Amino acid sequence: MGSGYLASSIFLLLLLFKCLAFQQPNTDGFFLSDFLEKMGAKLPSVTSSSVCSWSGVSCDSTGVDVIGFAASGLGLSGSIPENTIGKLNKLQALDLSMNHITKLSSDLWGLGSSLKNLNLSMNRIQDSLLNNIGNFGNLEILDLSQNGFFGEIPAGISSMSNLRLLNLSRNAFEGKIPEGITDCKSLVALDLSVNKLSGSFPSAFKNLSFLDLSSNQIQGAMPDLSGLESITYLNVSGNLLQDSITGVFHAALKVLDLSNNQFSQIKLGSSFNLSSLVYLDISRNHLNGQFLSNFGQASLLKHLNLAKNRFSHQKFPQIHDLHMLEYLNLSETSLTGNIPTKISQLVGLKTLDLSHNQLSGKVPQFMMVKLTILDISSNNLSGEIPSPLLEKLPHMEMFNFSNNNLTFCAKKFSLQRFNSSFMGSQNSCPLAANPDIIPSIKVKHKGLKLALAIALSVTFVLVGIVFLYFACRKSTRSWAVKQLSYKEEQNVEGPYSFRTDSTAWVADVRVATSVPVVMFEKPLLNFTFADLLAATGNFDRGTLLSEGSFGPVYRGILPGGIQVAMKVLAHGSALTDQDVARELERLGRIKHPNLVPLTGYCLAGDQRIALYEYMENGNLQNLLHDLPLGVQTTEDWSTDTWENETNGVQNITTEGVTTWRFRHRIALGIARALAFLHHGCFPQVVHRDVKASNIYLDSSLEPRLSHFGLEKVVGNDLDDELTTGSPGYIPPELSDPEKASSSAGSPKIDVFGFGVVLFELITGRKPLGDQYPEEKKTNLVDWARALVKKNQSSLAIDPKIRETGSEKQMEEALRIAYLCTADLPSKRPSMQQIVGLLKDMEPVAKD
Ligand SMILES: *[C@@H]1O[C@H](CO)[C@@H](O)[C@H](O)[C@H]1NC(C)=O
Ligand SMILES: *[C@@H]1O[C@H](CO)[C@@H](O)[C@H](O)[C@H]1NC(C)=O
Ligand SMILES: *[C@@H]1O[C@H](CO)[C@@H](O)[C@H](O)[C@H]1NC(C)=O
Ligand SMILES: *[C@@H]1O[C@H](CO)[C@@H](O)[C@H](O)[C@H]1NC(C)=O
Ligand SMILES: *[C@@H]1O[C@H](CO)[C@@H](O)[C@H](O)[C@H]1NC(C)=O
Ligand SMILES: *[C@@H]1O[C@H](CO)[C@@H](O)[C@H](O)[C@H]1NC(C)=O
Ligand SMILES: *[C@@H]1O[C@H](CO)[C@@H](O)[C@H](O)[C@H]1NC(C)=O
Ligand SMILES: *[C@@H]1O[C@H](CO)[C@@H](O)[C@H](O)[C@H]1NC(C)=O
Ligand SMILES: *[C@@H]1O[C@H](CO)[C@@H](O)[C@H](O)[C@H]1NC(C)=O
Ligand SMILES: *[C@@H]1O[C@H](CO)[C@@H](O)[C@H](O)[C@H]1NC(C)=O
Repeated sequence: MGSGYLASSIFLLLLLFKCLAFQQPNTDGFFLSDFLEKMGAKLPSVTSSSVCSWSGVSCDSTGVDVIGFAASGLGLSGSIPENTIGKLNKLQALDLSMNHITKLSSDLWGLGSSLKNLNLSMNRIQDSLLNNIGNFGNLEILDLSQNGFFGEIPAGISSMSNLRLLNLSRNAFEGKIPEGITDCKSLVALDLSVNKLSGSFPSAFKNLSFLDLSSNQIQGAMPDLSGLESITYLNVSGNLLQDSITGVFHAALKVLDLSNNQFSQIKLGSSFNLSSLVYLDISRNHLNGQFLSNFGQASLLKHLNLAKNRFSHQKFPQIHDLHMLEYLNLSETSLTGNIPTKISQLVGLKTLDLSHNQLSGKVPQFMMVKLTILDISSNNLSGEIPSPLLEKLPHMEMFNFSNNNLTFCAKKFSLQRFNSSFMGSQNSCPLAANPDIIPSIKVKHKGLKLALAIALSVTFVLVGIVFLYFACRKSTRSWAVKQLSYKEEQNVEGPYSFRTDSTAWVADVRVATSVPVVMFEKPLLNFTFADLLAATGNFDRGTLLSEGSFGPVYRGILPGGIQVAMKVLAHGSALTDQDVARELERLGRIKHPNLVPLTGYCLAGDQRIALYEYMENGNLQNLLHDLPLGVQTTEDWSTDTWENETNGVQNITTEGVTTWRFRHRIALGIARALAFLHHGCFPQVVHRDVKASNIYLDSSLEPRLSHFGLEKVVGNDLDDELTTGSPGYIPPELSDPEKASSSAGSPKIDVFGFGVVLFELITGRKPLGDQYPEEKKTNLVDWARALVKKNQSSLAIDPKIRETGSEKQMEEALRIAYLCTADLPSKRPSMQQIVGLLKDMEPVAKD
């Protein structure tokens, strides 16, 4: 309570006693002043003798009868005396919250007929409720929370048919929730949390939107929510509910907290609509088996906690589509395998808890800038903790890497951060709980190594860190000297981190000029990572060409005017640098007129960057859906100085390309490229990401497929979605987790992707997102296949090209696309067969 009250209360007290004398007996003013006097009030500001002008008091139009009285936080204490408030028979709203009231007067229940709003929350009332609560037939809001009410909730509550909000939270109510409560048909918010209620929950409230039953002893099965069509908040955390999480969940649901019960299963049917869900907590249950992997529907989810259940061994769930996620807790969920790098796409993540699992492999360089809490302790992770995690995340407050097999070299480690991150854990050694890791820290001093190897107490590790801190500072200085040649003022010293809209990546490079760029055909050029930085303005977003599922692609111009497209490869691969170099060199030798040549690479720390020949005329996606040819989505051509040098570029008009002949030429070219990769390369190359944005047009408008053969370099970790390609191009077998692993390497994936591209070429429609109203289909493949099947394929033809060639050929080509997109991989033709089919229909040159 504010001390200001104290100062004024003496004055007010004097004033009040003056006023009290004026109150006529048996008026509302009299009852109220009597009440205040007997409850030892710190007074509301009383300024005149009329009760209606007292602060907190409101009267009706007669100017005599009190209809509202608010005396919250005035230090009222003791029992409410009879013949005071209970006599205010016109009272509609009474707020006595935040006082020290211990008992209610019996005449208070007589207020029934008029009272609409009663707030007694935060007092010390030790009483039970009697059936006469039913007298409050007009009550709309009843807040008795945070008191000492005990006993059962009386059945009389069923008479309160106007009740909209009932808050009995934080009392000592016990026994069953009366069945009759469902007669309170107006209830919108019901809060019975933190009591000792037992039994099961009667549920048939059409209009209930807020239901909190948390922290009671409610037993039985999941409350049946089928009647709760408007429910937005449901909290049954901390009860004894068991069996399955099941039933009807309506689309309005935003917050669902089922944590800390004894649920053992989740049975989600189609009646489970997660489309509005923002908060989901099913932690601390007995859930077994594997958890639902498809959270895709819950695209608004911000908070997801599945921790501490009894799941059986399972791979990391596919959740990187949950772009709104801020809190992810998968602690103790029996996760195995790697932490997928795609987790970086959760750019809004603030808390990530993956502790107490069996995750293995490296810690990916995830750079979610908002990350504040990171706990990956007690897993089986190995390798070095990416230093940007420790140093570059501005909001990081707490991290825990304990109980793994990790090494670290935290060169800018602040002791203060260390302290704040591991507060209160003096007894154990949080960072270096496994003494094995000490020798692998690159410290030259043998004595220290030995001492640390023996050391188990945190003191020793702290000494080690102080030491490292200074050792690293020293070497930092010498790097700074070495790299004077790199002129960029900012970013003189790595690691370098970069962001795009969908991902973030880090080149853990200290001296950019010391990291070579390998150019296969021009080995003498001696480019370095510093040249890549310069060529792209530090990988500026303005130079982004596209963001594929294998990583972002930038455009740059290297010294000498060499234009390159640089693909920064997402990495989940366990290959060593040598293996990656060998693989990229192999891919560099794969040459075909319809493939974009890989011209070189750069291994910048852990980050692998592939360099491709730059394709002047953009990609097929731009051509078909986005922009006129020759203009690319993410760049401003007006500022390019080299524009004049590109004499070779054909002057393309949209007329030239919106012909059946041109579209056919693209289809055939790409079919040839894929046939070559599938049948002409040993080992066979499966592209896995065939889509319009990976098809480029070179200076002579020849189509060229790009980014082939990367799956080894990028990693073929099957629990990662890298294998499943881009939305709209994913064949059905990859959406089925049971079949995904066995079909991931099959060339039939590419055949499907090619089929989608072929549909795009002929229909001019996007694989996803275009409207298909006439058929109620949601994607191009379903829509076009349905038309072909019904012998109506001519309806699918892009009106822009219909007149430019033989419609019969276009329908024929649609049938090829139909075959390519067959559900069963075995029914799809081979790329060789497709080349044959497309060649047979080669449109005659008209010009
Ligand atoms: C009752 O009073 C408390 C304390 O003043 C307040 O926080 C609460 O919102 C009130 N309850 C209702 C239902 O208005
Ligand atoms: C009920 O009261 C508690 C404690 O006063 C409060 O925290 C809670 O928000 C209230 N519930 C509703 C629905 O107003
Ligand atoms: C439920 O809510 C709707 C819309 O707010 C209202 O029209 C209806 O009267 C309510 N039903 C009851 C029983 O209060
Ligand atoms: C559910 O209730 C519990 C206990 O009353 C509380 O700790 C938790 O924060 C509530 N959950 C939500 C989402 O409000
Ligand atoms: C879920 O509800 C939303 C909104 O009512 C609706 O658009 C969507 O189709 C529903 N989803 C499912 C899977 O039923
Ligand atoms: C994760 O959830 C568990 C169980 O609810 C909890 O104990 C733990 O504190 C949570 N972790 C974080 C970082 O919130
Ligand atoms: C930990 O990972 C290593 C390989 O990184 C593996 O050999 C070992 O079996 C794993 N241990 C456990 C307990 O999973
Ligand atoms: C820890 O990792 C290193 C290599 O990083 C490995 O040689 C060693 O066997 C691992 N130790 C354990 C206990 O897994
Ligand atoms: C680290 O924490 C301890 C205890 O909490 C405190 O005494 C000490 O001053 C802290 N040191 C730094 C550098 O913040
Ligand atoms: C870090 O994790 C370990 C093991 O999981 C635990 O013992 C330790 O208390 C944690 N430290 C902090 C600061 O939470």
